[in-house]
Amino acid sequence: MTRLPVSLQSLVVQFTALLLTALLFPLLPILFSYQATLWQLALVQGGLAAVLSVLWRQPAWWPPLHVGFLPAVLLALQVNLPAWVYLGAFLLLVLFYWSTFRTRVPLYLSDRKAWQALTSLLPETRTFRFIDLGSGLGGVPLYLEPRFPQGCFYGTEIAPGPWLISRVRAWLKRSRVNFMRRDYETLNLSDFDVVFAFLSPAAMPGLWQQAASQMRSGSLLVSLSFAVNARQPDSVVNLAAGARHTLYAWRM
Ligand SMILES: C[S@@+](CC[C@H](N)C(=O)[O-])C[C@H]1O[C@@H](n2cnc3c(N)ncnc32)[C@H](O)[C@@H]1O
Repeated sequence: MTRLPVSLQSLVVQFTALLLTALLFPLLPILFSYQATLWQLALVQGGLAAVLSVLWRQPAWWPPLHVGFLPAVLLALQVNLPAWVYLGAFLLLVLFYWSTFRTRVPLYLSDRKAWQALTSLLPETRTFRFIDLGSGLGGVPLYLEPRFPQGCFYGTEIAPGPWLISRVRAWLKRSRVNFMRRDYETLNLSDFDVVFAFLSPAAMPGLWQQAASQMRSGSLLVSLSFAVNARQPDSVVNLAAGARHTLYAWRM
């Protein structure tokens, strides 16, 4: 049976807990002669949601989120912010996190240590085409482009907010990096000599399948932080001391 995405599970959990709490509310005065306050009910709803979340075996950070959700809504109502603040925050989240509920790859950025380590894996003299799958704010190709003038650099990003920022950054730097707003799953990876990805454990099996079926023999797949079960990497680069990431590379 296919599992619901965890975000949809959480909607089900919240609504079920809300329904159970709503059923409990009229019973309390009858059974225990007790009239609960709104805050007590919110905490009961949170507790029920957390239990349902544990029963559904959601990841460990979800039960505390469920406990806090309705109390946070009540708090926000008391602060009495104008409605446009919520709309603005929602739109910002949509622009930057777009289809994270489906891809399970949120926006978080790699750092200069990772980019420096990546340079050791790229061809020094011959021409090559490089793509960053899920290019975020564009940091990776914008860093590499001036260091590898013989390379052709691409980035592809699904979320409109980061993509727009990467385009503006490329324009300001007069860079030739081509930032596309496309789902990498719709690309043909055989067009590239080096494919770089910094995604999430959830995305790796699909990425590996795509890479194995599309990438040309001799081309290079590099993943920051996340390996695959299907094949041991051909090289592993541990970043400078103190950094928590590792680069995995596979010669296809
Ligand atoms: C962890 S961030 C990495 C950003 C950037 N590569 C870096 O190293 O700083 C992953 C990015 O991949 C994007 N993403 C997730 N799934 C995608 C998909 N199927 N196609 C294109 N971009 C995707 C997300 O929106 C997010 O911006």
